[in-house]
Amino acid sequence: MGYKIAIDGPAGAGKSTIAKMIAEKLDFIYVDTGAMYRAVAYFFIHNGIENLDGANVKLMCAQMDIRISYEEGNQNVILNGKNVTGYLRSEEVGKMASIVAVNREIREKLIDLQRYISGEEDVVMDGRDIGTQVLPDAQLKIYLTASIDVRARRRFEELEEKGVSANIEDIKADIETRDKNDMNREIAPLCQAEDAILVDTSEMTIDEVVAKIISLYKGNCS
Ligand code: DC
Repeated sequence: MGYKIAIDGPAGAGKSTIAKMIAEKLDFIYVDTGAMYRAVAYFFIHNGIENLDGANVKLMCAQMDIRISYEEGNQNVILNGKNVTGYLRSEEVGKMASIVAVNREIREKLIDLQRYISGEEDVVMDGRDIGTQVLPDAQLKIYLTASIDVRARRRFEELEEKGVSANIEDIKADIETRDKNDMNREIAPLCQAEDAILVDTSEMTIDEVVAKIISLYKGNCS
């Protein structure tokens, strides 16, 4: 079935950066599932839908064709034939992603896609429910977290680097709302799988986190 590494955790814990680096080092496929929820959010926003009340989600799901492709190890999300990757990281799309992620139909559609991509491959997949729902048989499960202040600061620095002005208190409030949505929703809430290893990255550098997970992987394989 290939070797599966599942990385779950709250917004801003560094999942995507870490998962991507691990995949590169181990020559595994990297799957960013948050980008898929963001693509759905982007589709909804583009169709003028701000929340799911009264939205015909079934119909919207039927109109969405989401695929993944890779370019030099980077994941692209193709929505109805258009590469939308560059539009997915905004705060607006992030907020809407945590709203669409509570919907069962949307989750089922994306989980099918995630399992299909994973198939027989060696995979590092990051998200909120990978160890608990998508790949419950993953050989290595990591629950990556960090304090709320550290996560807000990281997001703030990421935006600053891109030249986007932001207010750290607003970012913190957004992260808190998203944590609440992600952890308290009825379907597949964010939680640490029983067999997941907790890694708190608050006081760790990216390289330290990567080295730790690689050593856990090597320890698992020997
Ligand atoms: O990791 P991210 O910020 O790109 O995720 C965007 C949103 O998608 C997040 O609020 C939670 C949701 N999500 C989810 O519910 N399940 C996943 N496997 C991945 C993301």
